Amino acid sequence: MKHTVYWIEGDGIGPEIWKVTRPVLDAALSAATRGEHVIDWVELLAGEKATRLTGSPLPQETLDTLAKASIAIKGPLGTPVGGGIRSLNVAMRQTFDLYACIRPVRWFEGISSPVKHPELVNMVIFRENTEDVYAGIEYQAESAEAEKLGNILRAEFGAKIREGSAIGVKPMSAFCSKRLVRRAIQYAADHTLPSVTLVHKGNIMKFTEGGFRAWGYEVAREEFGDITIPEKEATPENSKGKIIIKDRIADAMFQEALLHPSQYSVLALPNLNGDYISDALAAQVGGLGMAPGVNMSDTLALFEATHGTAPTAAGKDIANPGSLLLSGALMLEHMGFTAAAEKVRSAIVGAIADKTVTQDLAAEMDGAQTVSCSEFGNILRKKIV
Ligand code: NAI
Repeated sequence: MKHTVYWIEGDGIGPEIWKVTRPVLDAALSAATRGEHVIDWVELLAGEKATRLTGSPLPQETLDTLAKASIAIKGPLGTPVGGGIRSLNVAMRQTFDLYACIRPVRWFEGISSPVKHPELVNMVIFRENTEDVYAGIEYQAESAEAEKLGNILRAEFGAKIREGSAIGVKPMSAFCSKRLVRRAIQYAADHTLPSVTLVHKGNIMKFTEGGFRAWGYEVAREEFGDITIPEKEATPENSKGKIIIKDRIADAMFQEALLHPSQYSVLALPNLNGDYISDALAAQVGGLGMAPGVNMSDTLALFEATHGTAPTAAGKDIANPGSLLLSGALMLEHMGFTAAAEKVRSAIVGAIADKTVTQDLAAEMDGAQTVSCSEFGNILRKKIV
């Protein structure tokens, strides 16, 4: 059976890590399904390659295809300098309403970490991707817009805003908060995970971040009432087999992630909190280089390497394909091929245990042998049977 997956190779190290990733994913799927399922890979153009071939960094054909697609995977895309589009990633996120940014964070044995027990970190981050202070509603200090908005807020709402301030707006809606939390709870249910934690600053920002918390509990109660229970009401008797819904103030959550990581499983967060905790947790397990990710709408799942184009490493066959590979594993899991996904992950675990890794990882390990990006791919393929 054939399954269509669209791919964008990306800029910088994109082509190199993609060249390694695709055969590993094919091998894993073939081994796990005895050749019964194959991916029909269809390339879409974006970034520098698209500009070279079509004159546009994000051609209409790519947009039209993605609008109807359900699964795609992409390498990193550079931000065009001096072009019309500020960031291709942001453009795609907005065009396709990819409202949930999902990042599983776990440690791989052998990777050096700044904490004593990185193995206790096993969390899946659900970050809201479309609202909050990241919505882009911001006015420069002393601009006509900032002056006008400041005047309205002072005159009509009695707000105290210093003259000449820059002003940003933080919109957060029940609709967007709920659809994000809904996805997080559904994920916890699908993967039999013990808890979903709403991470917010509702103690200070009562209506935006506090709204996120309240709407989150509302979704849990109204749509998942039979399989969830709020932490405050949970007892050992009444919470058996149920997903505990917790909430934590964002600053406390950063402490908790370091002090009691094993007590957290799925995290649901507004955009800004989610951005911060994604990098903090990735660092806790040994850096961003290996973090997989996906951005999802209700119809499209766009899997991606979470790092950038690493221009200084490009063309040298030295980059670590781990992030794209693990995003590919996440994609296989999303497609229902859990055993294939596990094969990709255990091949990576095996290569790390053998200490045959790319230079970024080797630099952090004792006695490791540095292998090239393509050689790392060959090692993984040999491990997949
Ligand atoms: P970057 O992630 O490309 O590089 C940061 C550092 O990590 C560099 O030292 C780089 O060599 C290293 N690095 C990154 N990925 C690596 C890998 N797979 N293997 C080995 N080393 C790796 O971030 P930077 O330099 O801030 O951004 C470069 C370009 O990438 C910019 O144009 C930026 O806009 C874009 N970018 C794209 C992203 C995406 O497509 N999702 C995400 C982040 C940045």
